[in-house]
Amino acid sequence: MEKILVLDFGGQYNQLIARRVRDHRVYAEILPYTTPLDEIRKQHYKGIIFTGGPNSVFDMSSPHYTKEILGIGVPVLGICYGCQLIAWMAGGEVKTAPVSEYGKIELKAKPSPLFENVPESSVVWMSHTDYIASPPEGFEIIGTTPDCPCAAMQNRAKGIYAVQFHPEVTHSEYGDKVLYNFLYNVCGCKGEWVMDSFIEDTVKRLKEQIGDKNVILGLSGGVDSSVAAALLSRAVGKQLTCVFVDQGLMRKDEGDFVEKTFTSMFDMNFVRVNCAEHFLNALKGVCEPEEKRRIIGTEFFNVFWDEIRKQSDRGFFAQGTIYPDCIESGKGDADVIKTHHNRVKTPEDVEFLGIIEPLAELFKDEVRRVGERLGIPRELVWRQPFPGPGLGVRIIGEVTAEKIEILQNADAILRDEMAKNGYERNLAQFFCVLPGVKTVGVMGDHRTYEYLVAIRAVTTDDFMTADWAKIPYDILATVSNRITNECRGVNRVVYDITSKPPGTVEWE
Ligand code: XMP
Repeated sequence: MEKILVLDFGGQYNQLIARRVRDHRVYAEILPYTTPLDEIRKQHYKGIIFTGGPNSVFDMSSPHYTKEILGIGVPVLGICYGCQLIAWMAGGEVKTAPVSEYGKIELKAKPSPLFENVPESSVVWMSHTDYIASPPEGFEIIGTTPDCPCAAMQNRAKGIYAVQFHPEVTHSEYGDKVLYNFLYNVCGCKGEWVMDSFIEDTVKRLKEQIGDKNVILGLSGGVDSSVAAALLSRAVGKQLTCVFVDQGLMRKDEGDFVEKTFTSMFDMNFVRVNCAEHFLNALKGVCEPEEKRRIIGTEFFNVFWDEIRKQSDRGFFAQGTIYPDCIESGKGDADVIKTHHNRVKTPEDVEFLGIIEPLAELFKDEVRRVGERLGIPRELVWRQPFPGPGLGVRIIGEVTAEKIEILQNADAILRDEMAKNGYERNLAQFFCVLPGVKTVGVMGDHRTYEYLVAIRAVTTDDFMTADWAKIPYDILATVSNRITNECRGVNRVVYDITSKPPGTVEWE
């Protein structure tokens, strides 16, 4: 398989670079700058991209790499810090720039394989305080900006290219073209990375690896474990057992939907563990949010592993780990930070033949595409984020069966109205919260004293910050009418108009 290496020098856009490369149908993987050259050589990469990073190349404690990498016959593209690093390694001059450039800047490009179909003048995204004062011998300048005399350079004979700007961000008008040109004009890629071939290859590999043994997968109903389940089902059918722990804190009918989907559409053994009672007992009298989260998390795994212990012939353990969970990042210092946060630890007394992670090479959007191709319903593949502790953190204070039912009904109405009005895929997240507060109201001629429901809806790209969504009043009015009319026990609805920060998306 043709592969591009994204060599990570600690920049913030490194995953984005790999995703953009994959969007051009070329597989890209990210490795930290501490990866030895011998290992890189062995992989026969079609090309290497040096990422950006926050450091200065002339600071000797900054991440560097042996300059031999420029002579192994593999094309290299340096971006931002990576561009300066190439200049520095090859004997050019890098200095602190008299004027730092930040934001959108006009690039003047000269003819180059890297700039095919890129106009002579275009907008690029810059973010740098150092610059290349003079390029190394053998390099020619192919791009300039008003404050950067060498905004792009090339050594065509050696296949080495470098750009001071960030082609991976959408603010760079022709950035995508630049990456495409590097992949196809410089590295000679063919574009073989497509999801259909991923499915075919992975199914074949899984069949070989698993043979006639069994596999167990913990299915949460989330996107990653669902897609992993569908892939494994295609590979080994009934040798797969999916264990679905329903703690009674999912959205209305969601547990039934997950069960129906996987039992009717896919060939596998499906074990549903209904343990709502168990969770309600464990949560009795508990109001503190962190304590609730801790109990739900601990009990979830207690129930899950108890169920797994009952399976006599366990074979392999499969997980829906995806690529961002596996990346070792070069953070700009010698310590390599591992972020294997989504991997589940197996208890010592539960043995498996090995761990299988069929999605460990994919980004989230690729996982969704694979899921669609495998026939998983769209509402599951495009599911909004849903917290692990489920409705347990959307009911403020003590969780009771009555409150769960009220919240599930109100939330189902909100989702129904949002779907009818075309908001289902256009908003990052929306849901109802039950603050556990009762207020006075009037219905018919009677005084009521019932629960308040809050609606939360946000727009966001990354969930680190978020804005409250400006849902039209008439939709909110319909939702409010329906909730107060159709949900027994609710007499008031409010809309949360807090952004993040200072609020968070969830209320607990
Ligand atoms: P906050 O409330 O932190 O939420 O602004 C940001 C995003 O994370 C989701 N979220 C969780 N997801 N387990 C999860 O898998 C959790 O415990 C959890 N808590 C919050 C939240 O729904 C939002 O999308």
